[in-house]
Amino acid sequence: MDLLKAMKERHSVRTYTDKRIEGNVKEDLFSFTEQCNKDSGLHLQLILDEPDAFDSFMAHYGKFSGVRNYIALAGKKSRDLEEKCGYYGEKIVLYAQMMGLNTCWVAMTYSKGKARFQINKGEKLCLVIALGYGKTAGIPHKSKSRERVMNVQGTPPEWFLNGIDAALLAPTAVNQQKFTFTLDGNTVSSKAGMGFYSKIDLGIAKYHFEIGAGKENFQWK
Ligand SMILES: Cc1cc2nc3c(=O)[nH]c(=O)nc-3n(C[C@H](O)[C@H](O)[C@H](O)COP(=O)(O)O)c2cc1C
Repeated sequence: MDLLKAMKERHSVRTYTDKRIEGNVKEDLFSFTEQCNKDSGLHLQLILDEPDAFDSFMAHYGKFSGVRNYIALAGKKSRDLEEKCGYYGEKIVLYAQMMGLNTCWVAMTYSKGKARFQINKGEKLCLVIALGYGKTAGIPHKSKSRERVMNVQGTPPEWFLNGIDAALLAPTAVNQQKFTFTLDGNTVSSKAGMGFYSKIDLGIAKYHFEIGAGKENFQWK
């Protein structure tokens, strides 16, 4: 499976089977997470076989069941921490999707107190991503139109529209899709709208945009 296919097939999944993540899948996930940490300077942590974080009132209220694995997204406090966590978190999400796993970004509906991540001095936890073998593959979300998330003058090139379509496939908090992409020549600028977690959403959407548009076709402002 390639990244484009993974983007189309990824949907949030909240109920998981008891199949463990092991063998090559486990090794590949750990080394991919480490590579993301090296590239980003973040402190992303893959936590496997740990059922407590999702064994709480909040998690059940949020309709999660069978979650035993998650990725904690943390890093040094900084202005761009949230956007970076979004970008690199989604990198791991799509990598996991290509390996037959399912995921769900989770800001609220888990127990922070019970979760077993490590936050060093000066660091902050942004949120977690539940992962495992889903009981279902999830369903596609409702989406805004291209026009509501893009600013262009005249007819935009095909690569830009492909980037927009990819960004609209991205997971966002309560499916808010509060981001905009503006085209100027072959430079693209992006902006997060008002709303909870919208900077994380923007990081996620930017990763999707790059895959859809092709990094060779444009530069970020
Ligand atoms: C930053 C962020 C936070 C989220 N927090 C939660 C959450 O606390 N609980 C939950 O059930 N889903 C959560 N989600 C999942 C969204 O509801 C979901 O991505 C959105 O409805 C789009 O659906 P899709 O992921 O199936 O495409 C979150 C997603 C993002 C990106």
